[in-house]
Amino acid sequence: MTQKTWRIGVAGLGTVGGGLLQFLSDRPDFAPAGDRAVVTAVSARNRSRPRPVDISGLAWFDDPVALASSPDIDIFVELVGGSDGPAKAAVEAALKAGKPVVTANKALIAEHGAELAVLAETAGVPLLFEAAVMGGTPAVKMLREAMVGDDVSALAGILNGTCNFILSEMEAKGRGFKEVLADAQALGYAEADPTMDVGGFDAAHKISILAALAFGCAPNYAAAEIEGIDQVEQLDITLAKDLGYRIRLIASTEKTDDGVAVRVHPSLVAFGHPLAETRGATNALFIEGSRIGRIFLQGPGAGAGPTAAAVAADIADVMTASRRPVFQSPAAILAPFIAVAPTRRVGKAYLRLLVKDQPGVIAAVSETLAGSGVSIDSFLQKPVEDAGGVPIVLTTHAIAESVLTDAIDRLERLDVVIERPRLLRIARI
Ligand SMILES: NC(=O)c1ccc[n+]([C@@H]2O[C@H](COP(=O)([O-])OP(=O)(O)OC[C@H]3O[C@@H](n4cnc5c(N)ncnc54)[C@H](OP(=O)(O)O)[C@@H]3O)[C@@H](O)[C@H]2O)c1
Repeated sequence: MTQKTWRIGVAGLGTVGGGLLQFLSDRPDFAPAGDRAVVTAVSARNRSRPRPVDISGLAWFDDPVALASSPDIDIFVELVGGSDGPAKAAVEAALKAGKPVVTANKALIAEHGAELAVLAETAGVPLLFEAAVMGGTPAVKMLREAMVGDDVSALAGILNGTCNFILSEMEAKGRGFKEVLADAQALGYAEADPTMDVGGFDAAHKISILAALAFGCAPNYAAAEIEGIDQVEQLDITLAKDLGYRIRLIASTEKTDDGVAVRVHPSLVAFGHPLAETRGATNALFIEGSRIGRIFLQGPGAGAGPTAAAVAADIADVMTASRRPVFQSPAAILAPFIAVAPTRRVGKAYLRLLVKDQPGVIAAVSETLAGSGVSIDSFLQKPVEDAGGVPIVLTTHAIAESVLTDAIDRLERLDVVIERPRLLRIARI
C-alpha cells in the first residue's frame, strides 16, 4: 500500500499549536493507517516569535483565513481560540473550501457548533474537537462514539483545572480566593484575565458541548446557568469540611421530560466521592447511562502534551476516514435544545447564614424555613473568629430551587440575619 502524506495547516502556534508542531515533527507516522501527517503551513500573529520547532521551511500565512482555504493543505487545524473573530472566520472558510477541520476551541463549538455542523455536513467534511473538552482526556469520543449504544441521562464533572486548583489550594492552605488566584497566576495555572475560568464560563462551554453530544441536541451555551468560584469564601470551605464535604466547581447536565438543563455551580461533594478526591488541575467526569451504568473519567484537562495528543487523535480520525455527524444526529435534523428553567431544579442544598449572637436566633431561622416548606437535613452552629457574626450552616433534603430562593428571601429579611444567606448546591451525582 502506498503511503499518503497529509498536509496539515495549523493556525495558532501557542501552547497547543506548539505542542502539535513538536508531536508531528517527532511522530509524522503516528496515525493507525500508516499514512503520514506533516505540517506544511502555519499562521500566528508574530512570525519571529520562537516556536518549539523550526518553522522557517513552512509556508507562513499572516491571515489564518487565507491558510484555511489554501489549496495546499488537506486538513485545517484551528488553535487560535475565541468564539468569534479569526478562529470562527478561518473555520468557516476551511469548511466552505471543503477542508476537514480539527479544533480545540470550546468557545467556538459551544457558541456556534450548530451552524458550523451544517457547514461541515453540507461540505461532507469532518469537524472534530476532541481537545475542546478535558484536554487530553477523551470525553468527546467517549460520548460521540463509544456510548451511542446507550441512553445517557446525566453528566457531572470538574471541567476547569484552574478552578479545581484554586479550590484545592484554598482548602489545603486555608487561604482566601484572591491570594490563591494570585499564586495560580504566578504558577501559570491561571490567565492574567482569569474571568473565563473563575467565572465558570469555560466550564459552561465544555458542558454545553458534552450535553449536545450526550443528548443529540444542538449545543446551546446561552441556556447554561453559570456561577463561578469567585464568591466562594474560606468560611464555606471550612464549614463544608465540618459537614463532610469539599467544594468543587461542578459542571452538570441532565435530560428530563421537561428538556435539558446545563449548569455550572460551586457545589458540595461528599468526602470519598471521586469528584471530591479530584485535586489540583485534574479534570474528571461522571457519565450516567441507562444500560452501561456509570462511567468515571479522570485525567489532564490542559497542557501542551495532553491537548496536542487529543488534536492528533482527531487528525488520525480524518486520515482514517472516520465519518460521523458532528454531534449525535445529522446537523439538518439535530433536535432543538429545550432548556429547563432554573427554578425547576430539585436538589439538596447548603445554606450558610451569618446571624447576630443573641437568644432566639435559631428558633427564628427554623420557623422561617419551616414556613417556607424547607426540610432540614443537618444543622451546624460554629463560632468562627473574625466571621463578623455567628455562622449557622444547614443542609436541606431535596427541594425545588424556587422554594429555596423564596426561603432565602425570607431569611434575609429577618433582623437577626446579617447578610443574604449563601447558597451552595450539593452535587447530585
Ligand atoms: N492551553 C491548553 O492547555 C488548552 C487546552 C484545551 C483547549 N485549548 C484551546 O486551544 C486553543 C489554543 O489555546 P492555547 O492555549 O494554545 O492559546 P495560546 O497559547 O494563547 O496561543 C494562541 C495562538 O494563536 C495565535 N493567534 C492569536 N491571534 C491570531 C490571529 N489573529 N491570527 C493568527 N494567529 C493568531 C497566537 O499567535 P502568536 O503566538 O504569534 O501570539 C498564538 O500562537 C484555544 O481555543 C483554547 O481554548 C487550550
